[in-house]
Amino acid sequence: MNKNQANNPKTTLLLKINPTNPEPEKIQTAAQIIQKNGLVAFPTETVYGLGANALDSNTILKLFKTKNRPMDNPPIIHIADTYQVNLLTKEVPKNAEILMKKFWPGPLTLIFKRASIIPKETVANLDAVAIRMPKNKIALSLIKQSGTPIAAPSANISGKPSPTTAQHVYTDLNGKIDAILDGGPTNIGVESTVLDLSIDPPLLLRPGATTFEDIQAILPNVLLHHSIINSEQNVDIKQARSPGMLHKHYAPNAEMLLIDGAIQDIISKITTLAEQYRREGKKIGILATDETQKEYATMNTVKSMGSRLNLDTIANNLFKKLREFNESPVDIILAESVPTDGMGLAIMNRLQKASNYNVLKA
Ligand code: TXA
Ligand code: MG
Repeated sequence: MNKNQANNPKTTLLLKINPTNPEPEKIQTAAQIIQKNGLVAFPTETVYGLGANALDSNTILKLFKTKNRPMDNPPIIHIADTYQVNLLTKEVPKNAEILMKKFWPGPLTLIFKRASIIPKETVANLDAVAIRMPKNKIALSLIKQSGTPIAAPSANISGKPSPTTAQHVYTDLNGKIDAILDGGPTNIGVESTVLDLSIDPPLLLRPGATTFEDIQAILPNVLLHHSIINSEQNVDIKQARSPGMLHKHYAPNAEMLLIDGAIQDIISKITTLAEQYRREGKKIGILATDETQKEYATMNTVKSMGSRLNLDTIANNLFKKLREFNESPVDIILAESVPTDGMGLAIMNRLQKASNYNVLKA
C-alpha cells in the first residue's frame, strides 16, 4: 500500500441485519472482515461498538487511530463464551464467577488481571483487562463466527456521545471503517457498568444498567469510585463557563449546564437562566423530561430525554438527544438532573461528563 492509499477514505459496507434472527451470511461477511484485521461496527444491548481483533496489535493501533482515541484508554474485550475469560486472564476470582453467572450476557464489564496472550496495545500497557459478554444476538454471533475475542470501544469519534443507532456510527465513521452492521437502535442506550475486580474491595469505575445496588446485593463491600461520588461541583455561572478539557466526553457542540436539585427548583432555575441567556441573544436548548417539558417557554428548543417515572427511557434517549442538539444548533443547553438511584446514577454520570462538570445547584 502506498502512502496515498493509506489516507484515502474507504468504502464502508452498510449491512442491515435482523436483530432477533441475524442472517448467517451477513454475520459471515462481518466475521471475515474481523479475521482479516478490519474494523466492523456492530450493535450491543448498550451502544454500538467498533470491533477489532483483540489479539492483533496493529489492528488495535488502527482502532485507536480511527476513533481518535487517546492511547492510554484501553477498549473492552467482548467475548461470547465464558471459557474465553480463562484464556484472557491470569486468575478468575470467586466473586467474578458469581457475577458472570448472574449478569452475563449483559451490561457488566469486569476488570481482571490479564494474561500475556493479550497484546499490550489492547490494554494500554496495563496489567488488567476489561471483559464483557454482550446480550445481543448480532454481537454474540459475530464474536463466535470471528473465532477471536473482539475489542470494541463505543463506535464514535472520541469525545462525542456514544452511538445508539447505526446512523450515529455512520455520521462519525463513514469512510473510515470497513463495515457497519445495522441492527436497529440499542436497548439500553448508555455503556456498560465497569467494575474492577482486580483489586480488593471491588471498585465501580463506570455506572451502567447493571446498577450499583445490583452489585451491592452480591458484593456488599463494593465501592464507588470517588469521581462518581464527588463529581458535583457547586459552581457559579462564570466558573461554569470556563472550559476544562480534561473531562471532555459525550460532549455536544454547545456549552451545557446541568441543573441539580428538587424538581420544582430545577424548573425555576432553568426558566430564569433561559430568560437571562435569551436577553444575551443566545439560542437555548433545554434537556427536559416528559413530565416537565411543558413548563418551558416554546421559544426555547425543548427536548425530552424520557420519563422520570421510568429512568430506562431516559438512558435510552440521552445520547440521541445530545446528538440532536448538534443538528439544530443552540448556543447553550440547560439540562435537568435526575435522582441517582438505580439507573439514575449512570444517567447523571453521563450528564455530568457531557456538561464538562458544569453543575449548578438549583
Ligand atoms: O457498553 C459498553 O461497554 C460499550 C459496548 C460497545 O460494549 N463499550 C464501551 O467501550 O463503552 P469504551 O471503550 O468506550 O469504554 C471502555 C471503558 C473506558 O472507560 C475504559 O477506561 C475502561 O472501560 N477500561 C478498559 N480497560 C480497562 C482497564 N484495564 N482498567 C480500567 N478501565 C478500563
Ligand atoms: Mg466510549
